[in-house]
Amino acid sequence: MIVYTGGTFDLFHSGHSRLLERCKNIAGVGGQVVVSVNPSEFCAQYKEPPICELFERMEVVSSCKWVDKVIINTGGADSKPAILEAKADVIVVGSDWETKDYHKQMGFTQEWLDEHNIKVIFVPYSEHISTTIIKSRILDRMFQ
Ligand code: CTP
Repeated sequence: MIVYTGGTFDLFHSGHSRLLERCKNIAGVGGQVVVSVNPSEFCAQYKEPPICELFERMEVVSSCKWVDKVIINTGGADSKPAILEAKADVIVVGSDWETKDYHKQMGFTQEWLDEHNIKVIFVPYSEHISTTIIKSRILDRMFQ
């Protein structure tokens, strides 16, 4: 099974590695985890630009033992090109997206997913760690 997951993966942290481990477990024996990383210009459109450049974030994600392949989310708000490039069977995302309109955020519809026989699986979000939390820890340390 090919598992697709996407994100910015800036300042790679344990929430990211746990998500990727869950992806690998879902992919199963002989399965693959393909990670689609957002270009910096795209991130800057909806939140602040990442600290690390796209190539730096891709290099770190590639080094994670749960990851088989890293691609660029070339479609930006439309994740369909990257999902098709990955040949995904399953899309995995953290449960922080469960209460939001994930389909709209990703630029696909349930019909499109059904047509391509792709399932979406939400996995537990890791509390108390995120890129935003790391940035505020650094700021707190600098100004304490
Ligand atoms: N994720 C997670 N647990 C966390 C942080 C992220 O499971 N503590 C998951 C998200 O649900 C998403 C993926 O990791 O599927 C990539 O998230 P990303 O936005 O790159 O990381 P965040 O740390 O959430 O970034 P930010 O604080 O800027 O929102």
